[in-house]
Amino acid sequence: MDKIRLTGGRALHGKIRISGAKNATLPLLAACLLSDKPLTLTNVPRLSDVETFEALLAHLGVEVHQDSARGITRLCAKEILSHEAPYDHVRKMRASVLVLGPLLARCGEVRLSLPGGCAIGARPIDVHLKGLEALGAQIHLEEGYVVAKAPQGLVGGEYTFPIVSVTGTENIIMAACLAKGTTVLKGAAQEPEVTDLIHCLKAMGACIEGEGTSTLTIYGPTNFVEATHAVLPDRIETGTYAMAVGMVGGSVELTHTSLSLLPTVVPLLEAVGLVFEETQDGFKVSYDGHGLKALDLTTSVYPGFPTDLQAQYMALMTLAKGECHIQETIFENRFMHVPELARLGANISVKGNTAHVRGVPHLIGAPVMATDLRASVCLVLAGLAAEGETVISRVYHLDRGYEEIENKLSACGVSIERLVEGNDHASSQFVSQAQSANNR
Ligand code: EPZ
Repeated sequence: MDKIRLTGGRALHGKIRISGAKNATLPLLAACLLSDKPLTLTNVPRLSDVETFEALLAHLGVEVHQDSARGITRLCAKEILSHEAPYDHVRKMRASVLVLGPLLARCGEVRLSLPGGCAIGARPIDVHLKGLEALGAQIHLEEGYVVAKAPQGLVGGEYTFPIVSVTGTENIIMAACLAKGTTVLKGAAQEPEVTDLIHCLKAMGACIEGEGTSTLTIYGPTNFVEATHAVLPDRIETGTYAMAVGMVGGSVELTHTSLSLLPTVVPLLEAVGLVFEETQDGFKVSYDGHGLKALDLTTSVYPGFPTDLQAQYMALMTLAKGECHIQETIFENRFMHVPELARLGANISVKGNTAHVRGVPHLIGAPVMATDLRASVCLVLAGLAAEGETVISRVYHLDRGYEEIENKLSACGVSIERLVEGNDHASSQFVSQAQSANNR
């Protein structure tokens, strides 16, 4: 398993091109299953989760053509060859659950391996299943699989989400596009990635009202047409690199993104001490290194502070002047970065779903281990500031959601290298790619 080695203490100066959002790309890929017409996606990030999802689609019979260098994926589900999402696909990535709604709507039956939990929580899919039942699906569980049937097709209905679920909302929106009649969803997730999916479905011919609100109306069934859609910029990657500047100071321009994607995050980071300046296709973020203010945080659904930036914010607060409380309200086990941060000298105590962070004057580099996608990038941020060398193992977690992170950071002056398993020397190839990552 690869590792990443970085030496901390250097301010960041340069430009970073933000990639398309992983959490927009995955539902957009699933949407192709609804239609027998081609769907072309642009601004597709090169991530292992995207490759895993594309492999699942190919297993189901979708024609998948990737032009990775240009970030373009061409898809066509002319015919579906299998109705089964097997365990060895789904266990790699729980977002595979996103094939459930479109496959059921298109084919009338699906066998989906239960995704199982993951490092950050049990992550059930009961909300997805109840939503499909509201559209007339018959669902039962057998031998670790969800078996969903709608032999006469799905029928439009009403469903109020018992809790806000991002992929749950996306699954039911897609299923409703092929249901006969009108579907009204209440308590729907309002994340930008849900809105991006709705924009893509409308380009494909769907009739959907209410995007950006918690009440959606979908008029089915849809006569789908060929479509092209550009993947939304990644707001979590954007917030991550903004906080990277807060860790070590400097000034970085983030391109192909927008301040508007972070309505709660930016005001909080400004109050902490970062400075933001809007540019034509993104923004500049700067920090003079004269002291971060410790401010409390409670994660919540959009437009609140995203849980996917909680670990990164905690890294920032380890160096703030004072102490603060960080409350995680979305997932039940999303503090696994705490013991790893403590190895770097952070002073954090956890009680229930709240972490109490006391700022320290500096962090000290050490070997640490990534445990999940966002916890791993939190350790990169901490390593940027830590004195000396930090080596992060199990970086396959990082590769799931951050396109060429070492290239993007090295282009801003960071001493960072990937140690390929088996030979602990730096893979020199990536330095030349540093420009490509930021110039595409
Ligand atoms: C999406 O996961 C994202 N993944 C997550 O990003 C993100 O953290 C999460 O939304 C919250 O914003 C993708 O979009 C692919 P939920 P999702 O359903 O849809 C509970 C990352 O790091 N719940 O909104 O799976 C659930 O356990 C990943 O990029 C049920 O109880 O999250 C959680 O406590 C991590 N029953 C809460 O709801 C259900 O049927 C929110 O989960 C579904 C969810």
